[in-house]
Amino acid sequence: VRIHVPADSAAASVGADQVAARLAIEIERAGLDARIVRTGSRGLFWLEPMIEIETAAGPIAYGPVAPADIPGLLAAGLIDGGAHPLRLGPTAAIPYLARQERLTFARCGAIDPVSVDDYRARGGFKGLERALAMKPIEIVEEVTASGLRGRGGAGFPTGIKWRTVLGATADQKHIVCNADEGDSGTFADRMLMEGDPMLLIEGMAIAGLAVGATQGWIYIRSEYPRAVTTFTRAVEACRRAGILGAKVGGTGPAFDITVRMGAGAYVCGEETSLLESLEGKRALVRFKPPLPALKGLFGKPTVINNVLSFAAVPTILADGAKAYADYGMGRSRGTLPFQLAGNIKFGGLVEKAFGMTLGEAIHDFGGGTRSGRPVRAVQVGGPLGAYFPADHLDTPLDYEAFAARKGMLGHGGIVVFDDSVDMAEQARFAFEFCAKESCGKCTPCRIGSTRGRETIEKVIRGEAVERNLALVDDLCRTMTDASLCALGGLTPYPVLSAIEHFPEDFDRAPARVAAE
Ligand code: NAI
Ligand code: SF4
Repeated sequence: VRIHVPADSAAASVGADQVAARLAIEIERAGLDARIVRTGSRGLFWLEPMIEIETAAGPIAYGPVAPADIPGLLAAGLIDGGAHPLRLGPTAAIPYLARQERLTFARCGAIDPVSVDDYRARGGFKGLERALAMKPIEIVEEVTASGLRGRGGAGFPTGIKWRTVLGATADQKHIVCNADEGDSGTFADRMLMEGDPMLLIEGMAIAGLAVGATQGWIYIRSEYPRAVTTFTRAVEACRRAGILGAKVGGTGPAFDITVRMGAGAYVCGEETSLLESLEGKRALVRFKPPLPALKGLFGKPTVINNVLSFAAVPTILADGAKAYADYGMGRSRGTLPFQLAGNIKFGGLVEKAFGMTLGEAIHDFGGGTRSGRPVRAVQVGGPLGAYFPADHLDTPLDYEAFAARKGMLGHGGIVVFDDSVDMAEQARFAFEFCAKESCGKCTPCRIGSTRGRETIEKVIRGEAVERNLALVDDLCRTMTDASLCALGGLTPYPVLSAIEHFPEDFDRAPARVAAE
């Protein structure tokens, strides 16, 4: 019998490795016929370490398990799915999972991430097989028809990006995966690389076939050492199985993937800065145009997409564009893996079709705040995303609906704050973050972020509040209009939304400040 114990970083941070070690000792001591398989996580973080037993009726889950629980669990008949206070029942029936629409994360947590056989047994490589029988333009058209938009945050149609690269003539083209997942409250890329890396490998190989690129690269942030190890092992396993290498999938043209690690700069998630870093240079943002699609890595036409964009592609090819496009609303088609974080009771990964409201995500899935206090603010889309007040929780999770309320969906990270949050401090932090992470190439961001922080600090001290808030507003306009990239250009989102929706936190009249 197989016992699944996650090796995912989040599960490991609450003791999954110790659970696996103790389980191995106790299984041997009891002479049981059981094999421990280290998997990814299902993304139900409050239940980690969550272990699963494979039974004829499907996996049965137990959690959260501590090493000291293991003898008792085995005595209760764990390997037959026996009764125990920690038994959660059939994994698929846990409401948090049962109510999701998992396409990209269907396998995550259910397979050995570095086993080609496990991946194939659960439908893996079907998309690649179909792509191998198609012409490049047909693959591009299928991806376009699915309505897939870039999951990194900007939401640019993936099929159109690929078409630009396909149409470019060059002796070499590249596929680059942006795995520099830097947004606060996001972890979907990491979970996928640690739990189902072959899905990403398959997506990148299909992209290679679609545009005529033989070289793939992945840029993974150094804060994700487990993802680097697991992904590298998965690449090696795919090479041994003939999926990658001289003939992709055994019959196609050449395609292989090189793994590179970042060095801890948020701006490296910006695509041109990432390309500079991949080339071994200082990560200064490039001017656009030229677009990376025409002149990207080493000056060659390059498809650069986020982990989740590539990982959506195998499903689209395997099941057809229509099946994917049937999910979602408006121009946001398919599913998005949302990530619930911050002050939230049930934090984790929720993959759903676009269209669920922010409030449903936070209350129906997340169970409200962990502190039990009311939700006051929600930041969606990373540190550069807008803060929404509680009366915006009816906003559907959809690119356009968020934009209409001067927010952005970004990479799907949802960070919840209760009523103890100080929004003036959050606005100050946004400027400070920008000042720290700015690449320094353009003035509005390099200088503006520091001047902005100083001015908000004056507001917080109660100095000429009205005049200083007007200065912040003016500065934000300059940063929005004149910054070269999204880092400087989007910093005004958290700042201005905090001022607009929570004006009472900026009302630092000297008398009030003195009283505090
Ligand atoms: P963008 O709108 O300039 O470009 C989006 C993508 O489309 C880029 O890959 C660009 O090269 C491509 N593109 C645009 N026109 C094209 C054409 N005609 N043909 C082919 N390709 C074309 O946005 P940008 O600056 O790349 O990204 C900003 C976004 O990044 C923000 O909205 C934010 O949500 C997100 N972001 C994500 C983070 C993360 O950790 N995932 C961190 C910070 C920001
Ligand atoms: Fe660099 Fe900031 Fe300008 Fe972007 S906005 S190019 S990070 S200085």
